Amino acid sequence: ELHEATVTTPVNIAVVKYWGKRNNDLILPTNSSISCTLNQDHLNTKTTVRASSSYTDDRFWLNGIEETISNSPRLTTVLVTLRAIRKEKEKTLGPLAEGEKPLSEWKLHIASENNFPTAAGLASSSSGYAALAVCISKVLELDLTASELSKIARRGSGSACRSLYGGFVEWQHGVDPSGEDSCAVSIAPESHWPELEALILVVSDVKKSTPSTSGMSTTVKTSELFPLRVNEVAPKRIKQMEQAILEKDFNSFATIAMKDSNQFHAVCLDTFPPIFYLNDVSRGIITLVHRFNSQVDPATGEPLGIRAAYTFDAGANAVIFVLKNNVKELVEYIASHFPPATLQPTSVYFPDPFGIF
Ligand code: DP6
Repeated sequence: ELHEATVTTPVNIAVVKYWGKRNNDLILPTNSSISCTLNQDHLNTKTTVRASSSYTDDRFWLNGIEETISNSPRLTTVLVTLRAIRKEKEKTLGPLAEGEKPLSEWKLHIASENNFPTAAGLASSSSGYAALAVCISKVLELDLTASELSKIARRGSGSACRSLYGGFVEWQHGVDPSGEDSCAVSIAPESHWPELEALILVVSDVKKSTPSTSGMSTTVKTSELFPLRVNEVAPKRIKQMEQAILEKDFNSFATIAMKDSNQFHAVCLDTFPPIFYLNDVSRGIITLVHRFNSQVDPATGEPLGIRAAYTFDAGANAVIFVLKNNVKELVEYIASHFPPATLQPTSVYFPDPFGIF
């Protein structure tokens, strides 16, 4: 007998960043974060899980290459957690037929594929662990809520807990030492602000030099700027960003997103030894977006205002937020300032409306 499920999950990009844990094992963050879930037509993880009573081992393939599950404590945690929930459920089900194995004891074969470079700072783990949690829970026939799945995905990778919802999402840091109140909640669905688009500028598809997990752990231990961020700046920005999203106030949304990206990279630089994620092309994009935002209307001489925002995660690639009616102008502006020779062949960009998961 065989059970099979396939799910596709989107990536999310934080506009108020998660960086730092208060509990490494449970993956509990030092501050709340806010993200936008991107349309999964472009960047996604597709995961297929098969359970069979005749499989002898759990096995896992990432982008077609088999990995050893026992080498990944987080994958193991997600598996163990979901199986334990299945076991509980089995207590309420009727008795099994003679010789029948309970589903909680069937082994799983898991295949996961990202349609974009893995570990290049494009939030691949965010969609990866969300897909894993959803897919295994389907195969094990668990009726979990998005909130429950969010907490399980969080044990795989913190940012993954936000990929359980489409649109605009907050991961609330929570206060309970058990992590029960540390999960994602929806701020607004993607239909709330359909004019907002994200452009991905792939600057580099090489694997990042410092993984997020070890990077943020060194930051928590060594950065003297970090307490300021956690205690004062991030909580203030969470409130402001939530309001900007609810009011569809692009100026505030963009300003907070850019400042928060900059502060995250400042805290990385303040880590000892320092962590560098941005490269010269990334910095060129930052300068260009600010130049774009300081243009004036040629007819009236009035400033055109903030019309684009950049954000960078643990890598050199940029995500640019822009309203639909400004996409064409921005894309042309970027293309005319970055000669194709500099951008290609590693760089592609595409307008990408928000999608819902
Ligand atoms: C810079 O979620 O990859 O993208 O919880 O250790 O797996 P772990 O870290 P991860 O960190 C993401 C950091 C970030 C900011 C963000 O997505 O909020």
